[in-house]
Amino acid sequence: MDDRSITSWKRTRVTSALGIEYPIIQGPLGGLSSQRLTAAVSNYGGLGSLGAHSLEPRIIQERIDEIRSLTNKPFAINLWISMEDAAAVSSGAGAFQKALSHISHHLDRVGATAPSYAAYEPLRFEDQVRVLIDAKVPAFSFIYGLPPKEVLDECRRLGIIMMGTATTVDEAKVLADAGVDVVVASGFEAGGHRGSFIRKAEDSLMGTMSLVPQVVDAVNIPVIAAGGIADARGVIAAFALGAEAVQVGTVFLACEASGASDLHRKTLLSGKAAVTGLTRGFTGRLARAIKNELMDELNADHAEILPYPLQRHLIRNLSIAADRARDESLLPMWSGQSAALIRSTEVDAVMDSMLRDIAGPLDELLRWKHH
Ligand SMILES: Cc1cc2nc3c(=O)[nH]c(=O)nc-3n(C[C@H](O)[C@H](O)[C@H](O)COP(=O)(O)O)c2cc1C
Repeated sequence: MDDRSITSWKRTRVTSALGIEYPIIQGPLGGLSSQRLTAAVSNYGGLGSLGAHSLEPRIIQERIDEIRSLTNKPFAINLWISMEDAAAVSSGAGAFQKALSHISHHLDRVGATAPSYAAYEPLRFEDQVRVLIDAKVPAFSFIYGLPPKEVLDECRRLGIIMMGTATTVDEAKVLADAGVDVVVASGFEAGGHRGSFIRKAEDSLMGTMSLVPQVVDAVNIPVIAAGGIADARGVIAAFALGAEAVQVGTVFLACEASGASDLHRKTLLSGKAAVTGLTRGFTGRLARAIKNELMDELNADHAEILPYPLQRHLIRNLSIAADRARDESLLPMWSGQSAALIRSTEVDAVMDSMLRDIAGPLDELLRWKHH
């Protein structure tokens, strides 16, 4: 892309804090992240992120090493502050069998073996974050809460940029008051989990259009808009609302370099992602995915859902087998509401199209704001 066309709009507090060229962040994609995708976005001049919440500390270290072998630009590693619902620790075999009864009739259909009950073995946030700190990653992004003060202090001392995620104005204030560097304001259009941590996720369903300007007004730290942004129009709209960068997930999930399966990526591009819904049925926590048969069944009033992450473990065998059988009706097909806007599955083309023709309108917008 011709860099001469881009002038001051891209110099925001987010790009200067992170040391990146363009205010475009590839949102962490949990277990569907990939080192290749992360590095490709960072190499272009945006910020690539890798979701590490489900990984053992040793694997997180390997992923960081691999990203560093693919790029010398800044990148983010993402963790979940709250790793399990309180009820997960005490949930027993009885609850497991009841929850299993809602999916067992599907197992044969795709040739899946029935999962067996195992007591929950926690992964510890403290052990995961230690790897990030020791590796001195450029940026640490997180959802589902606020890290302990000692972690924030250590990141600040080491110059690790802290990126907290808010789904409501109150959450953004908590993050800003604790000294987090930037806040990702995530509207409910977004794909994946709703990382709410003050009220129930169901009571924290603000859209990007409402959430971003209210967060901008409420905090002094820079705001990154997330949720539903898929092209240049979305970037311009986010900046008009006061955001200083955007975080994009679903569009990058559909990229060839992401960790999503071939079936998942094809479904995102097929038009079926026009209808998404929110469910606890896939993991135990509220998240957005393409509406399908499994979601409808698990959203039914009578369905018994295990606490996070037990429900995720429960449906794992079914998901793997359904993916192998290319049956998109029986597995989580994570997606935000803007999948229909996806035009490319190559990282450079996605970045080009998001940045194309926005310099003029955004510089105009800056002049208007400073008027
Ligand atoms: C499959 C998937 C997994 C995600 N996992 C995480 C995660 O682990 N941590 C996080 O902070 N955000 C996660 N997100 C949210 C994205 O990083 C991003 O903020 C969101 O997708 C933006 O909305 P969009 O999907 O409309 O682009 C995930 C999103 C998707 C689609």
